[in-house]
Amino acid sequence: MNRKLIVGNWKMNGLKEDSFLRIDKLSHLLRNSSCDLNAVDIVICPPFPIINVLSEYVDSDLIKIGAQDCHFENFGAYTGDVSVPMLKDVGCKYVILGHSERRSAYLESNSVVKNKANIAILNELIPIVCVGETLEERESGEFFKVIESQLQYSLPNNFDHKSLVIAYEPVWAIGTGKIPTLDEISYVHKGIRDYISSTRGKNIGEKISILYGGSLKPEHAKDILSIAGVDGGLIGGSSLKEEEFFEIINVASISV
Ligand code: PGA
Repeated sequence: MNRKLIVGNWKMNGLKEDSFLRIDKLSHLLRNSSCDLNAVDIVICPPFPIINVLSEYVDSDLIKIGAQDCHFENFGAYTGDVSVPMLKDVGCKYVILGHSERRSAYLESNSVVKNKANIAILNELIPIVCVGETLEERESGEFFKVIESQLQYSLPNNFDHKSLVIAYEPVWAIGTGKIPTLDEISYVHKGIRDYISSTRGKNIGEKISILYGGSLKPEHAKDILSIAGVDGGLIGGSSLKEEEFFEIINVASISV
Protein backbone atom coordinates (compact mmCIF):
# COMPACT_ATOMS: atom_id res chain seq x y z
CA MET A 1 0.00 0.00 0.00
CA ASN A 2 1.24 3.49 -0.89
CA ARG A 3 1.68 6.32 1.57
CA LYS A 4 -1.21 8.68 0.97
CA LEU A 5 -0.46 11.81 -1.03
CA ILE A 6 -2.57 14.92 -0.49
CA VAL A 7 -2.01 17.72 -3.00
CA GLY A 8 -3.52 21.19 -2.67
CA ASN A 9 -4.05 23.03 -5.95
CA TRP A 10 -4.46 26.69 -5.08
CA LYS A 11 -5.12 27.59 -8.73
CA MET A 12 -5.00 31.38 -9.29
CA ASN A 13 -5.45 32.25 -5.62
CA GLY A 14 -2.97 33.58 -3.09
CA LEU A 15 -1.00 36.73 -2.47
CA LYS A 16 2.11 36.61 -0.30
CA GLU A 17 0.60 37.68 3.00
CA ASP A 18 -2.54 35.54 3.00
CA SER A 19 -0.50 32.57 1.77
CA PHE A 20 2.03 32.84 4.60
CA LEU A 21 -0.91 32.96 7.00
CA ARG A 22 -2.54 29.91 5.42
CA ILE A 23 0.75 27.97 5.66
CA ASP A 24 1.20 29.08 9.29
CA LYS A 25 -2.28 27.92 10.25
CA LEU A 26 -1.96 24.60 8.43
CA SER A 27 1.49 23.89 9.93
CA HIS A 28 0.14 24.72 13.38
CA LEU A 29 -2.82 22.36 12.93
CA LEU A 30 -0.54 19.58 11.66
CA ARG A 31 1.99 19.94 14.46
CA ASN A 32 -0.58 20.17 17.23
CA SER A 33 -2.68 17.17 16.33
CA SER A 34 -2.37 13.44 16.53
CA CYS A 35 -2.19 13.28 12.72
CA ASP A 36 0.35 10.61 11.72
CA LEU A 37 2.64 12.67 9.50
CA ASN A 38 4.61 9.55 8.57
CA ALA A 39 1.55 8.15 6.83
CA VAL A 40 0.94 11.01 4.44
CA ASP A 41 2.85 13.29 2.06
CA ILE A 42 1.53 16.82 1.76
CA VAL A 43 2.08 19.02 -1.29
CA ILE A 44 0.88 22.55 -1.98
CA CYS A 45 0.87 23.98 -5.50
CA PRO A 46 0.64 27.78 -5.28
CA PRO A 47 0.62 30.20 -8.22
CA PHE A 48 4.04 30.81 -9.87
CA PRO A 49 4.87 34.24 -8.36
CA ILE A 50 4.81 32.97 -4.76
CA ILE A 51 6.44 29.57 -5.25
CA ASN A 52 9.87 30.90 -4.36
CA VAL A 53 8.90 32.73 -1.17
CA LEU A 54 6.71 29.87 0.01
CA SER A 55 9.27 27.19 -0.64
CA GLU A 56 11.76 29.17 1.44
CA TYR A 57 9.10 29.69 4.12
CA VAL A 58 7.61 26.20 4.62
CA ASP A 59 9.13 23.43 6.66
CA SER A 60 9.92 21.09 3.79
CA ASP A 61 9.80 18.08 6.11
CA LEU A 62 6.12 18.92 6.62
CA ILE A 63 4.96 20.34 3.29
CA LYS A 64 6.43 20.02 -0.20
CA ILE A 65 5.88 22.64 -2.88
CA GLY A 66 4.72 21.96 -6.43
CA ALA A 67 3.70 23.95 -9.50
CA GLN A 68 0.47 23.96 -11.51
CA ASP A 69 2.06 23.75 -14.97
CA CYS A 70 5.38 23.99 -16.84
CA HIS A 71 6.73 24.35 -20.37
CA PHE A 72 8.03 21.38 -22.37
CA GLU A 73 11.43 22.93 -23.13
CA ASN A 74 14.17 23.68 -20.61
CA PHE A 75 14.66 27.28 -21.77
CA GLY A 76 14.14 29.50 -24.81
CA ALA A 77 11.98 32.12 -26.47
CA TYR A 78 8.64 31.23 -24.90
CA THR A 79 7.22 34.49 -23.59
CA GLY A 80 5.21 34.06 -20.42
CA ASP A 81 6.20 30.46 -19.77
CA VAL A 82 8.05 28.75 -16.93
CA SER A 83 10.43 25.82 -17.36
CA VAL A 84 11.10 22.74 -15.28
CA PRO A 85 14.68 23.79 -14.34
CA MET A 86 13.21 27.10 -13.07
CA LEU A 87 10.70 25.21 -10.93
CA LYS A 88 13.43 22.93 -9.58
CA ASP A 89 15.58 25.98 -8.87
CA VAL A 90 12.91 27.40 -6.54
CA GLY A 91 12.32 24.15 -4.69
CA CYS A 92 9.45 22.43 -6.51
CA LYS A 93 9.18 18.67 -6.17
CA TYR A 94 5.98 18.14 -8.17
CA VAL A 95 4.13 19.68 -11.10
CA ILE A 96 0.44 19.26 -11.98
CA LEU A 97 0.04 18.58 -15.71
CA GLY A 98 -2.95 18.30 -18.00
CA HIS A 99 -5.42 19.70 -15.48
CA SER A 100 -8.83 19.92 -17.13
CA GLU A 101 -8.82 23.72 -16.75
CA ARG A 102 -5.68 23.81 -18.91
CA ARG A 103 -6.94 21.19 -21.32
CA SER A 104 -10.15 23.15 -21.88
CA ALA A 105 -9.18 26.83 -21.50
CA TYR A 106 -5.75 26.58 -23.22
CA LEU A 107 -6.62 23.70 -25.54
CA GLU A 108 -3.75 21.71 -24.15
CA SER A 109 -3.55 18.46 -26.09
CA ASN A 110 -2.47 15.07 -24.86
CA SER A 111 0.78 15.38 -26.80
CA VAL A 112 1.64 18.72 -25.14
CA VAL A 113 0.94 17.15 -21.74
CA LYS A 114 3.16 14.22 -22.71
CA ASN A 115 6.05 16.50 -23.74
CA LYS A 116 5.75 18.39 -20.45
CA ALA A 117 5.68 15.13 -18.50
CA ASN A 118 8.75 13.88 -20.39
CA ILE A 119 10.81 16.95 -19.52
CA ALA A 120 9.62 16.88 -15.90
CA ILE A 121 10.74 13.26 -15.52
CA LEU A 122 14.09 13.95 -17.17
CA ASN A 123 14.67 16.70 -14.58
CA GLU A 124 13.41 14.56 -11.68
CA LEU A 125 10.36 16.70 -11.05
CA ILE A 126 7.35 14.45 -10.37
CA PRO A 127 4.47 15.11 -12.77
CA ILE A 128 0.92 14.65 -11.50
CA VAL A 129 -0.84 13.89 -14.77
CA CYS A 130 -4.59 14.57 -14.68
CA VAL A 131 -7.14 12.60 -16.65
CA GLY A 132 -10.92 12.60 -16.51
CA GLU A 133 -14.11 12.70 -18.50
CA THR A 134 -16.67 15.45 -19.09
CA LEU A 135 -20.30 14.92 -18.14
CA GLU A 136 -21.22 14.40 -21.76
CA GLU A 137 -18.54 11.73 -22.10
CA ARG A 138 -19.70 10.02 -18.91
CA GLU A 139 -23.30 10.00 -20.05
CA SER A 140 -22.30 8.53 -23.40
CA GLY A 141 -21.23 5.41 -21.51
CA GLU A 142 -17.90 5.39 -23.38
CA PHE A 143 -16.10 7.48 -20.80
CA PHE A 144 -13.43 4.99 -19.92
CA LYS A 145 -12.26 5.03 -23.53
CA VAL A 146 -11.65 8.79 -23.12
CA ILE A 147 -9.59 8.17 -20.00
CA GLU A 148 -7.69 5.36 -21.70
CA SER A 149 -6.85 7.58 -24.63
CA GLN A 150 -5.67 10.36 -22.27
CA LEU A 151 -3.44 7.79 -20.59
CA GLN A 152 -2.19 6.44 -23.89
CA TYR A 153 -1.27 9.83 -25.35
CA SER A 154 -0.40 12.05 -22.37
CA LEU A 155 1.80 9.81 -20.27
CA PRO A 156 5.55 10.13 -20.84
CA ASN A 157 7.67 7.58 -22.68
CA ASN A 158 9.35 6.26 -19.57
CA PHE A 159 8.36 6.36 -15.95
CA ASP A 160 8.18 4.15 -12.93
CA HIS A 161 5.93 4.14 -9.89
CA LYS A 162 8.11 6.64 -8.05
CA SER A 163 8.62 9.19 -10.84
CA LEU A 164 4.98 9.88 -11.80
CA VAL A 165 1.57 10.28 -10.19
CA ILE A 166 -1.80 10.01 -11.95
CA ALA A 167 -4.86 11.99 -10.83
CA TYR A 168 -8.35 10.93 -11.85
CA GLU A 169 -10.47 14.08 -11.92
CA PRO A 170 -13.91 13.81 -13.50
CA VAL A 171 -14.30 17.25 -15.10
CA TRP A 172 -17.95 17.49 -13.99
CA ALA A 173 -16.91 17.04 -10.34
CA ILE A 174 -14.31 19.84 -10.27
CA GLY A 175 -15.55 22.79 -8.25
CA THR A 176 -19.18 21.68 -8.55
CA GLY A 177 -19.78 19.88 -5.26
CA LYS A 178 -20.82 16.78 -7.23
CA ILE A 179 -18.88 13.56 -6.80
CA PRO A 180 -19.08 10.14 -8.42
CA THR A 181 -20.31 7.25 -6.29
CA LEU A 182 -17.67 5.26 -4.44
CA ASP A 183 -18.21 2.36 -6.86
CA GLU A 184 -17.68 4.67 -9.83
CA ILE A 185 -14.41 6.00 -8.37
CA SER A 186 -13.27 2.47 -7.60
CA TYR A 187 -14.13 1.32 -11.14
CA VAL A 188 -12.04 4.06 -12.78
CA HIS A 189 -9.08 3.67 -10.43
CA LYS A 190 -9.00 -0.07 -11.08
CA GLY A 191 -9.31 0.56 -14.81
CA ILE A 192 -6.38 3.00 -14.75
CA ARG A 193 -4.25 0.56 -12.75
CA ASP A 194 -5.07 -2.32 -15.09
CA TYR A 195 -4.27 -0.14 -18.10
CA ILE A 196 -0.87 0.82 -16.65
CA SER A 197 -0.16 -2.80 -15.74
CA SER A 198 -0.90 -4.01 -19.23
CA THR A 199 0.98 -1.25 -21.07
CA ARG A 200 3.87 -0.44 -18.71
CA GLY A 201 4.23 -3.58 -16.62
CA LYS A 202 2.56 -5.04 -13.59
CA ASN A 203 5.17 -3.73 -11.20
CA ILE A 204 4.42 -0.12 -12.16
CA GLY A 205 0.65 -0.65 -12.42
CA GLU A 206 0.38 -2.13 -8.96
CA LYS A 207 2.54 0.46 -7.25
CA ILE A 208 1.84 3.76 -9.00
CA SER A 209 -0.01 6.40 -6.97
CA ILE A 210 -3.44 7.28 -8.34
CA LEU A 211 -5.18 10.26 -6.73
CA TYR A 212 -8.84 11.20 -6.84
CA GLY A 213 -9.76 14.86 -7.42
CA GLY A 214 -13.02 16.77 -7.83
CA SER A 215 -14.99 18.27 -4.92
CA LEU A 216 -13.04 16.22 -2.38
CA LYS A 217 -14.23 17.70 0.93
CA PRO A 218 -13.78 16.62 4.57
CA GLU A 219 -17.30 15.14 4.76
CA HIS A 220 -16.60 12.41 2.22
CA ALA A 221 -12.81 12.22 2.49
CA LYS A 222 -12.89 9.10 4.66
CA ASP A 223 -15.10 7.17 2.26
CA ILE A 224 -13.13 8.17 -0.82
CA LEU A 225 -9.66 7.82 0.64
CA SER A 226 -10.50 4.37 2.00
CA ILE A 227 -11.34 2.96 -1.45
CA ALA A 228 -8.77 0.33 -2.42
CA GLY A 229 -6.50 1.81 -5.07
CA VAL A 230 -7.13 5.46 -4.15
CA ASP A 231 -3.73 6.72 -2.96
CA GLY A 232 -4.68 10.26 -2.07
CA GLY A 233 -6.38 13.38 -3.35
CA LEU A 234 -5.91 16.43 -5.53
CA ILE A 235 -7.83 19.17 -3.80
CA GLY A 236 -8.81 22.59 -5.09
CA GLY A 237 -11.40 24.54 -3.08
CA SER A 238 -10.79 22.86 0.27
CA SER A 239 -7.02 23.38 0.03
CA LEU A 240 -7.66 27.12 0.43
CA LYS A 241 -9.40 26.55 3.77
CA GLU A 242 -6.76 25.33 6.18
CA GLU A 243 -9.18 23.59 8.59
CA GLU A 244 -10.78 21.66 5.73
CA PHE A 245 -7.42 20.80 4.17
CA PHE A 246 -6.07 19.69 7.53
CA GLU A 247 -9.14 17.52 8.10
CA ILE A 248 -8.60 15.78 4.74
CA ILE A 249 -4.91 15.22 5.56
CA ASN A 250 -5.86 13.87 8.98
CA VAL A 251 -8.37 11.45 7.45
CA ALA A 252 -5.79 10.40 4.83
CA SER A 253 -3.27 9.58 7.54
CA ILE A 254 -5.65 7.01 9.05
CA SER A 255 -7.32 5.69 5.88
CA VAL A 256 -6.19 2.24 4.82
P1 PGA B 1 -12.01 21.09 -6.42
O1 PGA B 1 -10.81 21.16 -7.49
O2 PGA B 1 -11.49 20.32 -5.23
O3 PGA B 1 -12.29 22.54 -6.09
O4 PGA B 1 -13.14 20.41 -7.07
C1 PGA B 1 -10.03 20.03 -7.78
C2 PGA B 1 -9.04 20.35 -8.85
O5 PGA B 1 -9.33 21.18 -9.73
O6 PGA B 1 -7.92 19.79 -8.87
